[in-house]
Amino acid sequence: MTQPRYYFPGDTEKVNLDFAKLGFDYHPCPYRFEAVYELGVWRSRGVVEETSMAIPEGSQCLHYGQQLFEGMKVQTGIDGKIYAFRPRENARRMNEGARYLQGAEVPEELFIRGVEEVALANLPYVPPYGSGASLYVRPFYLGIDNNVGVKPASRFVFRILVTPVGPYFKGGFGPDQGKSFMVSAYDRAAPMGTGHIKAGGNYACSFQPGVEAKNAGFAEAIYLDPAEHKYIEEIGAANFLAFKGETLLTPKSPSVLPSITRRSLLQIATDIFGWPVEERLIELNELDEIDAAAACGTAAVITWIKEIADADRRWTFPFDQRWQKLYDNLLGIQTAEIEDPFGWRHEIG
Ligand code: PLP
Ligand code: COI
Repeated sequence: MTQPRYYFPGDTEKVNLDFAKLGFDYHPCPYRFEAVYELGVWRSRGVVEETSMAIPEGSQCLHYGQQLFEGMKVQTGIDGKIYAFRPRENARRMNEGARYLQGAEVPEELFIRGVEEVALANLPYVPPYGSGASLYVRPFYLGIDNNVGVKPASRFVFRILVTPVGPYFKGGFGPDQGKSFMVSAYDRAAPMGTGHIKAGGNYACSFQPGVEAKNAGFAEAIYLDPAEHKYIEEIGAANFLAFKGETLLTPKSPSVLPSITRRSLLQIATDIFGWPVEERLIELNELDEIDAAAACGTAAVITWIKEIADADRRWTFPFDQRWQKLYDNLLGIQTAEIEDPFGWRHEIG
């Protein structure tokens, strides 16, 4: 491998890409970070060039889904510095998954160092401030023994790929960008199953419901609670938020992925705006009384939900300026436009 060129945050050299026009697609960057766990220790390989991976054919990640992934964004701030958003939270969530899947935990410092190294090595691909795009950071984790029995691996690979991305839902955020979602008859996760961790298998189970929703003209599927199909649970790869009167609501469920964006927005709502917040069961029928709805996540950021449909009902929601306020504050903190009272920005370099 040729030595990667290390960039420093002050470097402004950018690849010739129309960052403002990017969608949420994989665009190969020169470097990725990799570490390997074997005989009880993690060994960093640093940044590497190979886009393909050679793993044993008997690997647990291939046969039994012993696999996890994460997602976060790195952005250029208004001050020209490069920031990741709360990467330690992603490390903790990945380790929650590693414990559940009986794999070796990735040391938080290794995880964060990997994010820093891969972002710096690919600095010309970090979208400039104001482009509307970001560097999507995708850490992932694979169990890789050569094995056929149903048992956890003893060796693991931890890799981080990055790619510059634009909005997850076409058009992104704004008062003219409402999206429609379809209540799915399927479940993405079982009660007391793996819905709360970011295991790839949860997403394989979402392909059929997601494709059916898209074929019916919707942006994504909405999942109800898997036990009773009565309460709102998740929106594809995003959490659900709603305003009922003054109060910001979000579903409480053990099978929902604990979104870092959601947690951040709830904190902004209470600590910055003083809005009441409730994390509780939200019946689908309660949509009759809801004033505004949104999806949130790293990729989805905040997406205004203009419409929700099930087999025989349709609910519509106006754009609510409170989404704009939450959006501006979240993005403002991420890009250093405003102060960061919570210590969420992680400066790289
Ligand atoms: N729910 C699911 C199923 C997801 O895949 C994601 C994306 O990571 C989220 C919610 C949002 O989580 P976060 O805000 O941590 O990105
Ligand atoms: C994210 O928001 O990071 C996600 O993981 C969503 C997705 C592309 C699966």
